[in-house]
Formats: sequence, structure tokens, C-alpha cells
Amino acid sequence: MFAIILNVILCVPHVQAVWACVRSCPANCVCTQERSCSVLCDRASLGHVPSEFPCEASSINLDKNNIKFLSERAFGTLPSLKSLSLNHNNISFITPGAFKGLPSLIELKMAHNEYIRYLHLRTFTALRRLVRLDLAGCNLFNIPDRIFIELPALQELFFFQNNFRRIPGAIRGMENLTHVYLERNRIEAVAYNSLQGLTKLKYLNLQDNRINVIHERAFQGCQKTEYLYLNDNLISELPENSFDGLRCLKMLNLGGNFLRNISNTWFRDLVELEVLYLDRNRISYIEEGAFENLTSLVILHLNSNNLTTLPFSVFHPVYFLGRLYLFRNPWECDCRIEWLKEWMESYRLVRDIPCASPSSVAGIDLMDVLYNRSPEGYCLDPVELNVTFYSPTPSREPFSTTESKFSSLISKLLLQMDLSEDVANTTEVFSNTTLPDGRTDGVSSGAWEHSIQAVSSFYLPALFTVVILQSK
Ligand SMILES: *[C@@H]1O[C@H](CO)[C@@H](O)[C@H](O)[C@H]1NC(C)=O
Ligand SMILES: *[C@@H]1O[C@H](CO)[C@@H](O)[C@H](O)[C@H]1NC(C)=O
Ligand SMILES: *[C@@H]1O[C@H](CO)[C@@H](O)[C@H](O)[C@H]1NC(C)=O
Ligand SMILES: *[C@@H]1O[C@H](CO)[C@@H](O)[C@H](O)[C@H]1NC(C)=O
Ligand SMILES: *[C@@H]1O[C@H](CO)[C@@H](O)[C@H](O)[C@H]1NC(C)=O
Ligand SMILES: *[C@@H]1O[C@H](CO)[C@@H](O)[C@H](O)[C@H]1NC(C)=O
Ligand SMILES: *[C@@H]1O[C@H](CO)[C@@H](O)[C@H](O)[C@H]1NC(C)=O
Ligand SMILES: *[C@@H]1O[C@H](CO)[C@@H](O)[C@H](O)[C@H]1NC(C)=O
Repeated sequence: MFAIILNVILCVPHVQAVWACVRSCPANCVCTQERSCSVLCDRASLGHVPSEFPCEASSINLDKNNIKFLSERAFGTLPSLKSLSLNHNNISFITPGAFKGLPSLIELKMAHNEYIRYLHLRTFTALRRLVRLDLAGCNLFNIPDRIFIELPALQELFFFQNNFRRIPGAIRGMENLTHVYLERNRIEAVAYNSLQGLTKLKYLNLQDNRINVIHERAFQGCQKTEYLYLNDNLISELPENSFDGLRCLKMLNLGGNFLRNISNTWFRDLVELEVLYLDRNRISYIEEGAFENLTSLVILHLNSNNLTTLPFSVFHPVYFLGRLYLFRNPWECDCRIEWLKEWMESYRLVRDIPCASPSSVAGIDLMDVLYNRSPEGYCLDPVELNVTFYSPTPSREPFSTTESKFSSLISKLLLQMDLSEDVANTTEVFSNTTLPDGRTDGVSSGAWEHSIQAVSSFYLPALFTVVILQSK
């Protein structure tokens, strides 16, 4: 108590600030006064918070010490303190009211204190100016719903790499929040009310969680949201109106999930969307008009999926598209995607849509496939060859000349497989599943034959590089 009174009395006029900042610097710390008084106590082997700080301190850095405990008013009264950092300590208990006496605090960082786990309702009491709160990597599994009730200015919440199983109810109704980082938790659902009242939210990161359920209209209240990360979750289905209301959204990442069908209702409200990631899913079917209202779209990632064909109608209207990524799909280069070849030719900047089938064109780029015409002028599909590793049931016929063509190709491809990190991800998706045309690994006899089958129907498309369609 005496120390607090002393602090208040000692708060001196600005002229003497330099002297005051340095004079009352805690042991093992460095205090500098340039524009404002900074107290640097990082990596100072401190076992607890120093008992006194210069009362004009504007920022305090206590990172990488061994602080375990924050008592009530742990920092005394520091009326000018704007930034306090306690990252990488070993804090396991924060007494309610620990940050009382810091009325100007804007930024509080306590990331990587892995024993925090739990926070009392009144932990952040009196931080009425706090804008940024960092509690990443603190093993939090839940927080009280009303913990932020006295933080009206809070805008940015760094909660990534914790153990949350649901989106913390505490953020509900936080109308001033603009950025919420919740990646790398264990969140399983986005409920209809999880994001209620976040009217200023611009950025929401939920990547790398375990989300498998998204309720109807879950993002309806997020009218200002521009960036939404839902990639690397367990989403296999979405309600038809899941993204309704996201009328300012510029980027939506749904990559690395288990989507199979793309519905033409999902994206209907996303009129400002510029970038859409649907890569690394299991998409084999896209409904007509799925991208119809995406009039701002410039980049679409559809690579690393299970697409064999792509109806032209999917892209109505096509004129807006800047780049389309289509590599790593088991393309069936029959007449249904002849339009894509024409599209590639007319825009010139397209490369590498390697065909997986029919067998006569397997491994050949769509660009180089020659479509024959019937006497009436209709496109004729390239033929299916009767070669062992392409027939539905293995025959005992010797390999044709295709064999040598493939064996050199395959050795190159196998080589690349080891080198490319990207390929590992694709392999992961497909390695334990049925082959694209429905055959299972068990069908082939020898190991070599097996590798040809696998490589030709999967890795072959997978290993060719980027496909870029650039319009105008
Ligand atoms: C951090 O705190 C935990 C529990 O409070 C303790 O078990 C652990 O030994 C501490 N680690 C260090 C490096 O002091
Ligand atoms: C948001 O900020 C405004 C002005 O800074 C404030 O009046 C309001 O109470 C804040 N909202 C909440 C929910 O704290
Ligand atoms: C995907 O679409 C196909 C074709 O319309 C349909 O047969 C299948 O049931 C759909 N699958 C899912 C998961 O919606
Ligand atoms: C596109 O938006 C309009 C108006 O916003 C809507 O009527 C239409 O149904 C949308 N299209 C699709 C495919 O949802
Ligand atoms: C392939 O074999 C099937 C029956 O095994 C035959 O009907 C078909 O005509 C053959 N195709 C070619 C291109 O030889
Ligand atoms: C591959 O997966 C790893 C981890 O799962 C991820 O960090 C990396 O970004 C992925 N690479 C690509 C190209 O998707
Ligand atoms: C492949 O599937 C088998 C049986 O379903 C399972 O035991 C194994 O763990 C799976 N391997 C991978 C890499 O998922
Ligand atoms: C890819 O699609 C085919 C049908 O077109 C299906 O039989 C196969 O199981 C799918 N593969 C994966 C990995 O989803």
C-alpha cells in the first residue's frame, strides 16, 4: 500500500521524466526514455514481478522470465502504461484484479504461459482501454462468458493454439471486436449463435480446428467480415445458407476439408468475394451456377480434389475469373472438357491439366489431346486402350508399348514424390482410399503393376504443376 502511495506522489512533471524513468528502474532491467519510458526486463531470470516500476512507464517487457504468479495490483499504479508483455513465462495463477491500476493499458500480451489454463471472471477488470489481448498458447480450455464485460474497447483477440472445444461464448456481443484468432484449437462447431453481435468483425481465423458442424446462417451477424479461414477442419457438409449474410467477404478458405459436392446455394451472398479456396477436398461434383453470384472473384483454387470433369455451366458467367487452379485432379479428358482446352488455347496462359483417363491420353496434357470428329462434326472421345493396368479386371496380356513410355515417366514421377512437400499432402488425402475410378489397390497383381496403377491414376495428375487460366 505504501508503495502505491509513494508511486502516486513520485509521479513527476514531464521535464523530469527522463531522470525519473531511469532512476526508479527495477533491478536487472533496462529503462530507456526516448519518446516515452520503456522498461525492458526480458530474459532477466525474474521469478516474480518486480515490486516497483517507474511511474511514468509507458511499456513494460517481462518476456521470457520465470514469473509464476500475478498478485492483485501486481504492477502498482502506472497511469501511463500502454503496453505490458508477459509472453513466455510460467504464469499459472492470475489473481482477480491483477491489472488494476493500469487505466491506460492498450495492449496486454501473455502468450505462451502454458499453465494458465483457467481465467477468473474478474481477471481483466478495470482495463477499459484495452484494445489488444494476446493469450495464444496458454492451454485455455474455456473462459467465463462474461470475462470481457468490462473491456469495451477490445478489438483484437489472439486465442490461437489453445484447447478451446467451442468458440468462447465470451466474444458474443463484443461489438467492437475486429480480429479474432482462434486457429489451432479443438473447436468442433460454429453454432448459429457463436458469432452473434460481432458487427465489426473483419477477420476470423478458425483454421486447423476440428470443425465438422456449421449451423444454418452461422455467420449471419458478421456483415463486415472480409477474411474467413475455415481451412484444415473436418467439414464434409454445409447447410445451404451457411454463408448467408457475408456480403463484405473478400476471402473464404475452405481448403483441406472433406467436401465432396459444391452446392449452388453456398456462395450466393458473397458478392464481394475475390479469393475462394476449395483445394485439398474430395470434390467430385460442382453444381451448376455454384459460382454464379461471385462477380468479384479473381482467384479460385480447385486443385487437389477428385474432379474428373468440369461442366462449362459451372462457370457462368466466366468473364470475371483471373486465375483458376485445377492441378492434382484425376481429369477425364473426354469431349466434356473440350471447352476447357479451347479456353486454355484462347487465353494462352494455361499449362498442365494432365489427363488421368481415358487411357489413350493418360499422362498427356489436355492441351495436347487431339479430339477426333465424326463425319457430322461431333467431338469423339479418345479411346480406352485394352492394356492390363487400365482394364477393370486385370488381364494376362503382356504390356504394350505403353509400358516403356510409362516406366520412364513413372521413375521420374516417383523421384519427384519424395522431393515435394506438396505431394505429401495430396498423397495423404488419397493414400488410404479407393482409386478414383472405383478400383481398389487389391485388383492389381505385382507391386510394379500396383505402382503404375496408382501413379497413373493419381500421382500423375498430382505431379504436374500449376494450372493457371488467365482471362484477358
Ligand atoms: C511451471 O509451472 C508448473 C506448474 O505450476 C511447474 O510444474 C513447472 O515445473 C514450471 N516450469 C518451470 C520451468 O519452472
Ligand atoms: C464499443 O465502443 C464504443 C465506443 O468506443 C462504446 O461506447 C461501446 O460501449 C463499446 N461496445 C461494447 C459492447 O463494449
Ligand atoms: C453429391 O452429388 C451427387 C450427384 O448429384 C449425389 O448423388 C450425391 O448424393 C451428393 N453427395 C452429397 C454428399 O451431397
Ligand atoms: C444471386 O443473387 C441474387 C440476388 O442477390 C439472387 O436472387 C439469386 O438467387 C442468386 N443466385 C444464386 C445462384 O443463388
Ligand atoms: C477392348 O476390349 C473390349 C472387350 O474386351 C472390346 O469390346 C473393345 O472393342 C476393345 N477396344 C479396343 C479399342 O480394342
Ligand atoms: C501440407 O501440410 C502441412 C501440414 O499438414 C501444411 O503445413 C502445409 O502448408 C501443407 N502444404 C500445402 C501445399 O498444402
Ligand atoms: C488405412 O486403413 C487401415 C484400415 O482401414 C487403417 O488401419 C490404417 O491406419 C489406415 N492408414 C492410414 C495411413 O490412414
Ligand atoms: C473420387 O470420386 C469417385 C467417383 O467419381 C469415387 O468413386 C471415389 O471414391 C472418390 N475418391 C475420393 C478419395 O473421394
